[in-house]
Amino acid sequence: MNKNKKKILVSVAWPYANSGIHIGHLAGCYLPADIFARFNRMLGNDVLMVSGSDAHGTPVVIKSIQENKTPEQLFDYYHKDILKSWDKLGIDFDLFTSTRTKNHELIVQDIFNDLLNKGFIYSKEMILPYCSDCERFLADRYVEGTCPNTDCNSKDARGDQCDNCGKTLDPKDLIDMVCKICSKSDVIIFKKSDHFFLKLSHFEDDLKTWLNSKNNFKSNVQKASLGFMSDGLLDRPITRDIDWGIKVPVEGWEKKRIYVWFEAVLGYLSASIEYFSKDTDPDQWKEYWKNESESYYFMGKDNIIFHSIILPAILMGRGELNLPHNIPANEYLNLEGQKLSSSRNWALWANELSDMYEADTIRYALASNLPENSDTNFSLSELIRSNNHELVASYGNLVNRVVNICVKNFDSKVPHAKNIDDEGKLILDQCYQTLENVKNEISDVKLRKGLTQIMQLSASINKYIDIKEPWRLVKNDKEKAAEVIWICLTAINCLKVLFTPYLPFSSVNLNKVLGFEENEDIQWEWSENDLPGGQQINFNGPLFKKLEE
Ligand code: MF3
Ligand code: ZN
Repeated sequence: MNKNKKKILVSVAWPYANSGIHIGHLAGCYLPADIFARFNRMLGNDVLMVSGSDAHGTPVVIKSIQENKTPEQLFDYYHKDILKSWDKLGIDFDLFTSTRTKNHELIVQDIFNDLLNKGFIYSKEMILPYCSDCERFLADRYVEGTCPNTDCNSKDARGDQCDNCGKTLDPKDLIDMVCKICSKSDVIIFKKSDHFFLKLSHFEDDLKTWLNSKNNFKSNVQKASLGFMSDGLLDRPITRDIDWGIKVPVEGWEKKRIYVWFEAVLGYLSASIEYFSKDTDPDQWKEYWKNESESYYFMGKDNIIFHSIILPAILMGRGELNLPHNIPANEYLNLEGQKLSSSRNWALWANELSDMYEADTIRYALASNLPENSDTNFSLSELIRSNNHELVASYGNLVNRVVNICVKNFDSKVPHAKNIDDEGKLILDQCYQTLENVKNEISDVKLRKGLTQIMQLSASINKYIDIKEPWRLVKNDKEKAAEVIWICLTAINCLKVLFTPYLPFSSVNLNKVLGFEENEDIQWEWSENDLPGGQQINFNGPLFKKLEE
């Protein structure tokens, strides 16, 4: 069927196991990745979509302290909670694992050792903030105080930067330092500690050459990445003084752990290996990491440099593995004008929403608001509006009207069209054209544009039906009515294909309504010959429900 079958690796940012999934996560990467993966599967490509819970790192430790739990308990709870979200919303991973697996640990340690042996990792002494009350080293952003910049002097500066004046800071320069974990002042001292560094400076030129060659990257991704290196690329510490994470595989380093970002970005590789590990040919992961395969990394914009610089540097050091083919990072989806935040509990949670609304209603509302080019704004009333005024009003009602006429006047069978007039031909042409256009948009990860074109086709079919008035024709010109209803059903069959990546649940339902086999997968294929006259229609109620405003 597909002669140019490709191997597509869909890598999706690993959510921290310290909170549930909210609409910002969904719109930022999980829904786009799922739409893209579903589309590629429909094309007949071999897709491997992987991610997992990001279990380690300071964000999980701090949250566990706040909640009086162990990091392990927190991980167990949220990993399950996250899996539930994928299930409810149809985010269809081939593997959603976690960074707590033995497989991941071994692969990370192996790569760490490899880079160490090659000289791309070296150790150096650092002087770091330490809370004598909590008895722990603090990540820069857990030290707070007054901004040393005399023009600013904001009281809320963090050790890494001041949000008020935007300056990057060294925690040592903060005035009146406070530990963000215990909220005490006069507890912060600076202590020596040895750490391993990733020699990013070694890869600087190669990374620049590579990034400059990536003309398929979104300009914001390319700019942010090159901008990050504009003053030179500094080596970064990749170990931490915490006890939660992957052990440093070197004697004498038992008390330290590998930095969460160094190991988490390797999760894409370890998950690919895990996925095929029980297969008769466990080497199949290589087909997604070497040669002709294409890899797409989905994430929010705050994750860009970890995927465009840190991960590529590690992969270059390792050798023989593909660098990202594309990094279609999104901007932010805001909730009623404010940035979403798990810690401030400013969010609409995926699991709560999907208890209240159909998955496709949520998917449609988010897909039509994806922050692909700039931040977008969202709210519950927007979800309801888009469901009622777009999904139901255009697509749902169209299906409803046409199928109803078919049930009442054509004995629930697809009518036979004797003739097709010019308006009918135009609709069929637009179907072929839309299929081609949307294919190009989704291939370029322009998912909103794709959806807009699908809705335009839906609008055209509605216009056609309004002009033809088949509900009148059935009374005085049954043959013409048959033609119009056949055109509409055939075009609806095309909408079904087009909507499948975006709205998988209602598309499967519509497939049944149109009389196709229940468990037959919908492919990215359509022709006017697909829906033969005489095929049984199985109407089972409206595709979408109108919601109370
Ligand atoms: N856990 C990180 C976040 O939520 C994302 C990690 S992506 C990975 O921002 F590739 F590093 F795993
Ligand atoms: Zn403290």
